[in-house]
Amino acid sequence: MLTGTTAGEKARLYLEHRGISPATALAFQLGYSLDSWDALSQRLLGRGYSEKDLVGAGLAVEREGGGSYDRFRNRLMFPIRDAQGRVTGFGARALDESSPKYMNSPQTLIFDKGSILYGIDLAKDAIRRDNLVVIVEGYMDVMMAHQAGFRNVVASMGTSLTERQASILRRLTKRLTLALDADAAGTEATLRGVETIDRTLDRKVVPVPDQRGLMRYETTVDAEVRIIVLPAGKDPDEVIREDPAAWQRLVDESLPVMDYVLNAVASRVDLGDVRGRSEVVSRVLPIISGSKEPVRQAHYLRKLAQLVSVDERVLWDTLREAKATRRAGRAPLEPKRSVLASGSSQVEDYCLALLLQNPGLRGCCEGLIPEYFEDSGAREILCKWLQSPDLETLRTTLDHTLEGSLDRLLAGSLPPANATQLRHQLSDCILALRERWLRGMEARKALLLREAGAGGPDVELEKLQEQGTSVPQELHELFHQPKGKRRLRPPSEHRSPGPRK
Ligand code: UTP
Ligand code: MN
Repeated sequence: MLTGTTAGEKARLYLEHRGISPATALAFQLGYSLDSWDALSQRLLGRGYSEKDLVGAGLAVEREGGGSYDRFRNRLMFPIRDAQGRVTGFGARALDESSPKYMNSPQTLIFDKGSILYGIDLAKDAIRRDNLVVIVEGYMDVMMAHQAGFRNVVASMGTSLTERQASILRRLTKRLTLALDADAAGTEATLRGVETIDRTLDRKVVPVPDQRGLMRYETTVDAEVRIIVLPAGKDPDEVIREDPAAWQRLVDESLPVMDYVLNAVASRVDLGDVRGRSEVVSRVLPIISGSKEPVRQAHYLRKLAQLVSVDERVLWDTLREAKATRRAGRAPLEPKRSVLASGSSQVEDYCLALLLQNPGLRGCCEGLIPEYFEDSGAREILCKWLQSPDLETLRTTLDHTLEGSLDRLLAGSLPPANATQLRHQLSDCILALRERWLRGMEARKALLLREAGAGGPDVELEKLQEQGTSVPQELHELFHQPKGKRRLRPPSEHRSPGPRK
């Protein structure tokens, strides 16, 4: 409709007016939706699709009294493709000032706004080649950048970058630059969003065997996030259209995220005032302390010290104190804080991330029971996963408060592994979880025995004792079998001793 019809004339004119060439329109497969309530539906129904298909794909909208109508009418159409170039949804711009300016496909089985990056299919080679991705907001920004030869540009489609989007990009490059518009750049919400991205990208889960053959999980610095603050009132589309060299300069002069945060926080307070300076310290110090890399930490501590004219040593002391307080506040036996879902342990997260990210492992989780998980959220995710045939079902049945954890698990980066390695990693996880569970049961038994010595018989203790000697026996076996030969007993031999207290 866009290129070959009279009806598409106004959309062609609109593109021309926006400075988009026919070649760019072709590369992005732009189109035009007719000013009609049913032109697309009629066409597709004629090709054998059902009304249900059209509604399910988000192309038609159901009417309350029955029937349906075309969702996209009289708009410039932007097909949205995944990294493999498959169209999963559409963005659609009004050709005038009418509102909403853009309409997008609703969430469908294949379209999820939070895990799609506009332009990724056309940008991925350049992102790899340049080892850099620049993330902008809008469809127009991406097209104009590509047209000017900046092909490492993708759009987060108007929202702040999600962890799922970041994890797609991280497979291509560890260097991310976010273009922020001047209005939003200094705001609290933007700062928080940027810090979150920096923190999530800053780590990577790596299994490391220790002396006993069990796994430890360490985090390593993994990414570099930089920020471009756009000139006031301009978006990348306008900057590039006016002067492509100016865009290149902005990219070259982008600031590491920590410098950006330092500047943004500092610019909002009065540094001549002691309260202003201490506000900067209390805002920025926790971020610096969150950095896993000592060199980076030292570098920014020095910068902060200069900025607020305080002796660096004072800041080091504050930093150490803060860390000590945090450590002391933690029970000694509490499992190490998780990197993915807060609250649950690293092994639990690792196990879930393996399962969620590798549908092929579904047949290999025999012996894994929800009781092994101490974190209630992790336990719930596993329960629901066991009952769901696929991720989509899991997502719809999962309590929405756990969505964030699910996303973090899906986005958590796992070391590359082939199918066999994956199976081994999973069975190592299950073993580690099982060992912990058995130990917990032993400890509980010992405690109950001590209590029973003082009082009457105990139902839970009796139950635990009914399980006979299998627990210590199996713990023994677990530790004395050579690593490669360790095997789980069939799960039927072990049942949970009842609800945990
Ligand atoms: P912008 O308003 O910056 O869009 O929103 P733009 O691409 O610069 O559009 P032009 O230049 O006015 O044509 C940024 C992105 O936010 C999403 C779109 O993905 C858009 O590209 N958005 C914006 C919507 O989804 N709906 C809206 O109503 C507006
Ligand atoms: Mn714009």
